[in-house]
Amino acid sequence: MKIRVFDTPDEAGVYVAAIAEQVVSGCPQSVLGLATGSTPIPFYRALVRLVQCGLNVHEVTTVNLDEYVGLPPDHPQSYRYFMEHHLFRHIPIDVDKIHIPYGTAADLDAECARYDQVVADYPADLQILGIGLNGHIGFNEPSAFLDTKTHVVELTKKTILHNSDAFGDPALVPTHAITMGLQGILQARQIVMMAFGEEKSQVVAQALQGEVRTDLPASILHLHHDVTWVLDRAAARMLPLHLGDTEA
Ligand code: PGA
Repeated sequence: MKIRVFDTPDEAGVYVAAIAEQVVSGCPQSVLGLATGSTPIPFYRALVRLVQCGLNVHEVTTVNLDEYVGLPPDHPQSYRYFMEHHLFRHIPIDVDKIHIPYGTAADLDAECARYDQVVADYPADLQILGIGLNGHIGFNEPSAFLDTKTHVVELTKKTILHNSDAFGDPALVPTHAITMGLQGILQARQIVMMAFGEEKSQVVAQALQGEVRTDLPASILHLHHDVTWVLDRAAARMLPLHLGDTEA
């Protein structure tokens, strides 16, 4: 496991975009596992710049982690819309190579099964993650039991409150989401976990230093052989100075 601490999220985003460039340059048909939320925005900004500077992503496939149940793709708070806004509309990517769960599918069980097939067909060469204040990854919320497969999850109050900024009112945040399960996340060849800001410092320290726990889903990353934690100074504030690179 590697930990890299940057002065600002923008610097961190440039670093993660360079990792993505290395992956895509090595294999133009790479699969990028992508995340939403405020955390990956500096990464998308830097990636768009790299594409404008000549990085070729024509053959890249993308597989997103999750989507709100009940929001259509053109809803401004849907994750599909988020991805269009921050990445897809700025780069020449084939729409058929973009994968995000459909939050408005009539049969959500069938949609979960369909998405598990997508996840099986396109294992990520690089998986980008953010961490929830409660330690969730994707929308795998803390629980006594963690699902390996794509599933519908009831969002916790903490997640709804954290995500309510974009909606303007917690009552407007969907109560459920479809999320890739832990198997899909852990099958990635390489994982980059990003976290920024003081409010993430405690959960980052818990996930990095503690044991693997289902009530802290990000701690499961201890089981993966190639994880890089990319932090800003505020998010790294509670980490002991000696914490450096370790073998998984
Ligand atoms: P955030 O969300 O980037 O908006 O803090 C991260 C997450 O919930 O994974």
